[in-house]
Amino acid sequence: MYFTKFPHRSNFSFVEQFDAASNRLKAGSREFDAVVSSYEGGITHIQVRHPKVWGDNRCLEALAVPSTASETSLEVGGEFELSVKGSKGQTLFTGRFGVSGEASMFCFAPAEEARYYGMGEKTFGKLELSGYRSKFWNTDVWGDFHFAQWGENPTDPPYFSLPYLIAEIEGEYVGFLLHNPYPTFMETPGTDEARVFVEWQRTAPDLILGSEGGEPNLWILTGPTLRELTQKLQKLVGVTPVPPAWALGYHQSRWGYGGHDDLLELDRQFTDHKIPCDSLWLDLDYMDGFRIFQTSEQMFPQGAAVTAAELAKTGRRIVPIIDPGVKFEPGYAVYDDGHKNQIFCLNAEGKEFVGMVWPGETVFPDFSEKKARTWWSGYVRKFAESGFGACWLDMNDPSTGPVDPQGMFFGGGKVPHSAYHNQYALGMQMATHDGFLKARPKERPFMLSRSGYIGSSKHAAIWTGDNLSNYFYLKISIPTSVNLSISGLPFNGPDIGGFGDSVTDDLMVDWVKANFLFPFFRNHCAKTGRNQEPFAFAVPVMTILRRYIRLRYKLMPYLYNLFIEQELSGDPILRPLIYEFEESGPRGQDDQFLVGPSILQAPFVEEKAKIRTVWLPGVEPWFDAESGDWEAAGELSVKNDRTGTPLYIRAGAMIPMQAGTPTDNTKNFSDVNIHVFVPTGWSGDSTLNYRADDGISFEYQQGARSAIDVELASVDGNLALNWKQTASGFGEIKPTFVIHGDPKSVRLNGGSVKLISGKVVLTGRTLKVSVVS
Ligand code: NOJ
Repeated sequence: MYFTKFPHRSNFSFVEQFDAASNRLKAGSREFDAVVSSYEGGITHIQVRHPKVWGDNRCLEALAVPSTASETSLEVGGEFELSVKGSKGQTLFTGRFGVSGEASMFCFAPAEEARYYGMGEKTFGKLELSGYRSKFWNTDVWGDFHFAQWGENPTDPPYFSLPYLIAEIEGEYVGFLLHNPYPTFMETPGTDEARVFVEWQRTAPDLILGSEGGEPNLWILTGPTLRELTQKLQKLVGVTPVPPAWALGYHQSRWGYGGHDDLLELDRQFTDHKIPCDSLWLDLDYMDGFRIFQTSEQMFPQGAAVTAAELAKTGRRIVPIIDPGVKFEPGYAVYDDGHKNQIFCLNAEGKEFVGMVWPGETVFPDFSEKKARTWWSGYVRKFAESGFGACWLDMNDPSTGPVDPQGMFFGGGKVPHSAYHNQYALGMQMATHDGFLKARPKERPFMLSRSGYIGSSKHAAIWTGDNLSNYFYLKISIPTSVNLSISGLPFNGPDIGGFGDSVTDDLMVDWVKANFLFPFFRNHCAKTGRNQEPFAFAVPVMTILRRYIRLRYKLMPYLYNLFIEQELSGDPILRPLIYEFEESGPRGQDDQFLVGPSILQAPFVEEKAKIRTVWLPGVEPWFDAESGDWEAAGELSVKNDRTGTPLYIRAGAMIPMQAGTPTDNTKNFSDVNIHVFVPTGWSGDSTLNYRADDGISFEYQQGARSAIDVELASVDGNLALNWKQTASGFGEIKPTFVIHGDPKSVRLNGGSVKLISGKVVLTGRTLKVSVVS
């Protein structure tokens, strides 16, 4: 498997004959079955079958397929010409299908120049992805690329594969999902001359979506809007069940933390410095000589449960790392048990496949098999019961060190590596999820994973793997996470501060400001760099870092509600500007983003930048959270100041927040402050559906969730707020309305109100507000 070489269309035979009555098609000298199915919402599925060439589709997780529909957005012609139709019946793409041995390829010609987004986790540093060739093959980037390549450059493929592409064409959006776990590839038409050194580097004029093997399964989704498209995709691949609220907090990690003593010291520091933090992470050091599921007695002399009980007093959890690889060591109980039960992947000689990972010679559970997943979940259950609140799944690309993973076979040695490589982490997530549920059936499990595949959204958050403490990685964190968010994996984020090298004070400050509202927020670094806990910095720097961590906790009701909304509708937490503002086009997409519908961030991501341009989309003014001023939509020049960050709130937004300035990880969703943002003399309206539950159990699924509906209507600055509780399964919600702006009058539920002046700090200076009593 070459990362940088791609099948070329000239080596393929494209369909010459298609018989719609029998669904048979002929390409080259071979015949295939083609099944084209149409589903509700303008979704179609093309499956091409040939039992001898491809066998079964080997996807571990089924898609949540909607009901079939008689109407279709895909027309199939006499020679299997595919026409993707837009909302008005216009042709957006015309396509054809071809084969070359086990490889297959769809080529789609766009009706006019299109823009491309998505592709899951990519580190190209751009939201718009015209003119790229890319592979989808889960890769241990630092293991598989020479270090000279990953310093300040995109490496492709990265850790996580989500072969999904979004095309924006004629003002509409179309999505292409390759549901084929074998190595897949995509090529987008493009004109970026800067990337073309020799002519053959130029990508094809057609959009190419293909696989090097495996049964061709292409899902085509039509929007027409990006929001509708993303909602359909997320439901198809699986929404992320609302995580436990603590998983949305600040997480502190570092390769090098030991056990009991280090954890209690960290706990004390967070408490003393009044910095909210929900969990402390353990890297390999807590293990007994890299043996998974075996905790070092030296690190936890009284057992991890004692430490966990101590940390429970401040509401913090321990999240240990688990690698899939089992030390190849007869006499080590986990190995012996797995060996006895024939749990491990085999090599071409029918023996256990051995790779080289942290423990040296390492064997790998065959997660493609139910038997191995059940075996693994039994160990996870015991591990969770020993005091661990969640876990962090690493090296599951799977990383095999210098050993070629192609020699690792699945299914008792009968199934080639390529069939399950991209799904290895997914199988591990499924089994781990199951283990946590067995240990704590009433608690929502939380796990973080490095690699994954379509369907991982149902089980795990994803972090974008090893990065470095430099501005390149800070900068690409935005398009990488935003594209991942609209590709069906909403719960994601990078290592904040950078994993490798040592972070500088300025970089740490810029990184926290840029990512503090990302769905997943963890400070993690390698053991070789400087310490990068907030209190490891001098007081002025620590104070800024703390300000943003606290602000995340202040905004916790907003973030938590975005996750609830995501489970219900499929809307992601991080959004590109084009998600909410169609007209903003390509401006401000790579270094700006939206958190939910109402917060726009345009952080400083260039080293020592003194000034930057911000693009405020739409026509309404935006509230500058630092100054409290309203800024007109359009282009704006902003100066960098050390403490603030460009963060804007939409006119008419109602943002649920916790009261005051949180100094610990308490989360109160019932006594909520609803901040209302209204420009002077504003006319307009908006609504908010706010929900609260216990943040930890599944009881919300049985109705233990409360909700209020709030309506805001403003005529020339005369404000009417109306709210009512619409669900009470989690008791009473007590909203307090906090108004930013200078309304002429305010009425609440039809009556006049008293306004009390108050003060609020968001990103900058103390802002004057009116509190409705
Ligand atoms: C690789 C992971 O990406 C990194 O986060 C971790 O610290 C190291 N493995 C050591 O476990």
